Amino acid sequence: MVKLSASLATLTALIPLAAAQAAEWGQCGGIGWTGATACVSGTTCVESNPYYSQCLPGAASVAPSSPGGAAPSGTSSGSLPTGTSTAKLNTLAKAASKLYFGTATDNPELTDTGYTAILDDNTQFGQITPANSMKWDAIEPEQGVFTFTEGDQIADLAMTNAMLLRGHNCVWYNQLPSWVSDGTFTVAQLTSVIQNHCSTLVGHYKGQVYAWDVVNEPFNDDGTWRTDVFFNTLGTSYPQIALEAASQADPNAKLYINEYNIEFAGPKATALLSLVESLKSAGVPLDGVGFQCHFIVGEVSGSGLQTQLSTFAAQGVEVALTELDIRMTLPETPALLAQQKTDYNSVITACMSVESCVGITVWDWTDKYSWVPSTFSGQGAACPWDENFVKKPAFDGIAAALSA
Ligand code: G3I
Repeated sequence: MVKLSASLATLTALIPLAAAQAAEWGQCGGIGWTGATACVSGTTCVESNPYYSQCLPGAASVAPSSPGGAAPSGTSSGSLPTGTSTAKLNTLAKAASKLYFGTATDNPELTDTGYTAILDDNTQFGQITPANSMKWDAIEPEQGVFTFTEGDQIADLAMTNAMLLRGHNCVWYNQLPSWVSDGTFTVAQLTSVIQNHCSTLVGHYKGQVYAWDVVNEPFNDDGTWRTDVFFNTLGTSYPQIALEAASQADPNAKLYINEYNIEFAGPKATALLSLVESLKSAGVPLDGVGFQCHFIVGEVSGSGLQTQLSTFAAQGVEVALTELDIRMTLPETPALLAQQKTDYNSVITACMSVESCVGITVWDWTDKYSWVPSTFSGQGAACPWDENFVKKPAFDGIAAALSA
């Protein structure tokens, strides 16, 4: 989730070419890649980031992205296909016995009346998550000084619109104020800092939140623990400290660990599964696991996701898709949008196939406010509505899966 440097991009150019051709949607380059760098006919090798290039259909005119440079516009041209379904996603999700179909939102977006006209429709969205305003840097920027104004704006919106609210988040390595991230604490001091933060935050919204992402992204992709101030000071005990504080502050809220790259088998999923197992067997209050689902068009395995959801649910937790988006290398093409529709459909189908998967949240519904272009240069168009609030084929893919 970091911007990649231009010097790494330069390194990609040094990777030797191999003779075989990579398949459509297959990898065709990137740092460390030793496989085929030529693509099958009708596709072009397009750099997603310095670590990954992919054979995209009919993308011959696409220039490789320039890491750190300006992202190409994601504006849909008039010739691109759009979604045609008039279905309402939350209505469909509830009719299928899910609790909600929801979306992330963020305070600055709420002055955009075109945006709020759609956001406020609770037949479309039955749940919202604040993308930033309940994070530690927003809530407790100085030790003991709590600022709830922006978080309250999202909580009030959920209440006004009769939507469920997801709290995001109590403990995360990112978006920490420097007094936390750069602090030097004893075990007792940091335990108390976490307890005070989690119980004050969760307590402030007691009764208003369906579920909290109490612990966010505790692991590296290789399954080792992130070496942040929490792990470095408290070792593997900090999730329990945070979960117990949250539970005391709001015993009725569902308490989650939320993570990405656990949607397929691998060391990170294994590490989290083992943490869930040990927390549950120790009687720690953990109710759910959030699968963020930040995916890439053409690289989605719905059946793999379904397996992971079931595997975690077997530990006695509920599961949810908490931050779904499916990005592509810009510009959008009809082929990419068609594949994105297929991918959204298979992700939603995975949740529909697992009873313990309670709901789906997209990480904002419109490309206008997606986090993707500012993080992955040259990529975007990850949401079901375009930046002009026009439904994309992906919307139809979601609606079809919810009503299947
Ligand atoms: O608040 C400052 C503002 O004062 C400043 O003027 C502006 C200048 O860039 O930056 C503002 O902070 C930005 C913040 O969003 C609020 O808009 C940060 O730069 C920006 O990095 C931050 O991005 C957020 C990102 O988390 C941070 O990691 C995204 O909006 C948010 O969507 C994203 O959400 C995360 C989830 O919490 C966890 N899972 C991954 C997901 C996507 O990265």
